[in-house]
Amino acid sequence: MLDLVLAVLHHLLILSMAGLLAVELALVRPGVGGASLKTLAVIDAGYGATATLILVVGAGRVFFGAKGSAFYLENPVFWAKITAFVVVGLLSAWPTVTILKWRKQATADLAFAPSTGEVARIRRMMGMELAVFALIPIFAAAMARGYGL
Ligand code: HEM
Repeated sequence: MLDLVLAVLHHLLILSMAGLLAVELALVRPGVGGASLKTLAVIDAGYGATATLILVVGAGRVFFGAKGSAFYLENPVFWAKITAFVVVGLLSAWPTVTILKWRKQATADLAFAPSTGEVARIRRMMGMELAVFALIPIFAAAMARGYGL
């Protein structure tokens, strides 16, 4: 039963994380400012919190799941998945710092809007995040079927 609950939570959180990233990509556009920047900061905080929960639930699946931790910890495909997850986290750091900076600037100046160059850079980073994110379910499916062992 615990294995099922953890698997359901894992999938729901993954869907939420992908959805939040898609919303962020839709919001980070030239001219973004004011209320949209506030929403963006809230969405980004939710994205970080969701990623943290995925890590916790994922670790729960490793240590309390039906297959036993050795099934994962001894499999390089599991570590490839974790590496991709860490890379997604690292790629998200710059957009997060930038969004917080924009939010601060928008609080001080109501007419503030980030430059198109900066928006383009953040969108590129988020695009890279999405590309690496897409690798994770591929590694996950292979790992779950024992590829790499
Ligand atoms: C955004 C990050 C993640 C995504 C998109 C993701 C995706 C998936 C998917 C799609 C599955 C189902 C695989 C299948 O049954 O075919 C899965 C299973 C699993 N994931 Fe994740 N995962 C993520 C993060 C993590 C993390 C951080 C951990 C560990 C710390 C983890 C541990 C596991 C485990 C143990 C399973 C069970 C595999 C099995 O059934 O044997 N995941 N993941």
